[in-house]
Amino acid sequence: MSEIKNIAVIGGGTMGNGICHVFAMNGFNVQLVETKQEFADRAMSTIEKNLDRMVKKEKISSDEKDATLEHINPNLDLPKAVSNADLIVEAVPEVYDLKKKIFEQVDEHAPDHAVIASNTSSISITKLAACTDRPEKFIGMHFFNPVPVMKLVEVINGLETDESVTELIMETTKKLGKVAVPANDSPGFVSNRVLMPMINEAIFCVYEGVATAENVDEVMKLGMAHPMGPLRLADFIGLDVCLDILDVLYEGFKDPKYRPCPLLVKMVDAGKLGDKTGEGFYKR
Ligand code: 3HC
Repeated sequence: MSEIKNIAVIGGGTMGNGICHVFAMNGFNVQLVETKQEFADRAMSTIEKNLDRMVKKEKISSDEKDATLEHINPNLDLPKAVSNADLIVEAVPEVYDLKKKIFEQVDEHAPDHAVIASNTSSISITKLAACTDRPEKFIGMHFFNPVPVMKLVEVINGLETDESVTELIMETTKKLGKVAVPANDSPGFVSNRVLMPMINEAIFCVYEGVATAENVDEVMKLGMAHPMGPLRLADFIGLDVCLDILDVLYEGFKDPKYRPCPLLVKMVDAGKLGDKTGEGFYKR
């Protein structure tokens, strides 16, 4: 496989629609795969809204916006959508059984040359690769939210990922105007192994009454030049996602330093998941 042109993105949620956006904006043909028409419509309208924002900021022209939208084909038929793909990027919720089912289906219907990538933030790439008969063509492509803005793609090699596949994905990432940073498969990879303990420690500061959420965030924004404080960022990422990732770190390393703060567990139990439910450490 020398060049990637046709992409299928499975899942049109926050990460999936952003991934479609950047591939299409850079001239790739994209199939946006969803399970229901209303989800596909919602993904397309989010992409359009984010493209409008870029037109307003004069980052792209309105012709480029139209061309981007023309490069995306919403599709409810997964087998058909992947049948002509050179690269499939999975971006469905972080549920192993769901991903396993999808990878088995993708593996069956995608061409032999196709590379399969997962945008998982925490599940082992090696374990996901084992759901297919092509672990050498399986890789992690970890994008960051908001995808059209964040420059990084963490490229994660599973145990059996072929070196040529890593090179191809690193090259393809460059064509998106992003920077690919390679890492080997390990719980949390690099990004979440470093980020989540910081967020967890910020939650402990609130839990132990060291400071309010606002003050913890102010310290990190003004003292460390973070664009968002860790608690505002936790709301943005989703408190359930943060808890899932901390659980993966805790289970993966069997090290108590990764234990999730009881306040985080309580907030997730209460359904206060951050921006997506309208309340986390902050109200939206
Ligand atoms: N699509 C397109 N453009 C967008 C956008 C979107 N969804 N969201 C924001 N933008 C653009 C804006 O147009 C603006 O462009 P400009 O610089 O040319 O004016 C720029 O991004 C900044 O946006 P705003 O001025 O509206 O707002 P802020 O200055 O507050 O920036 C932010 C917003 C970019 C989200 C910034 O706060 C930030 O960088 N926060 C940190 C985000 C972060 O850490 N993300 C990683 C999360 S971890 C993750 O995803 C991994 C997972 O595994 C957990």
